[in-house]
Amino acid sequence: MKVKVSRKEHFNAAHRLYNPEWSDDQNAKVFGKCSNPNYHGHNYEVIVSVTGEPDPRTGYVFDMKLLSDLIRENVLSKLDHKNLNLDTEFFKNLNPTAENIAVVIWRILRQKIDSDLELKITLYETERNFVEYPAS
Ligand code: NI
Repeated sequence: MKVKVSRKEHFNAAHRLYNPEWSDDQNAKVFGKCSNPNYHGHNYEVIVSVTGEPDPRTGYVFDMKLLSDLIRENVLSKLDHKNLNLDTEFFKNLNPTAENIAVVIWRILRQKIDSDLELKITLYETERNFVEYPAS
């Protein structure tokens, strides 16, 4: 009897999508406005989902207060109001696409959550564009 529980949080961050092996023209062709050299911001929504058996003692799959604290202390503190390219270690050598941001968030939280529980990250970069990791 597995149940999935989710917590939604949000953060603002700036980024530039850029492949340093390409010319500015090629970057502009591939990444469009997201390659603007002076960066731009997004209001990201992140949904962290944990799936597992409810604990028979509490009825909880995962304490949502604890999940909220984990996200705030380990993810939002590192990404919120940051320039992802310049202010974080994660994207020094990794393009800060929604895909890569979701994988980074998953890797951070995976270390904090019991391995018996499945973890999924859904990241909205805009209201209409979102990614999920893992994919299934
Ligand atoms: Ni962008």
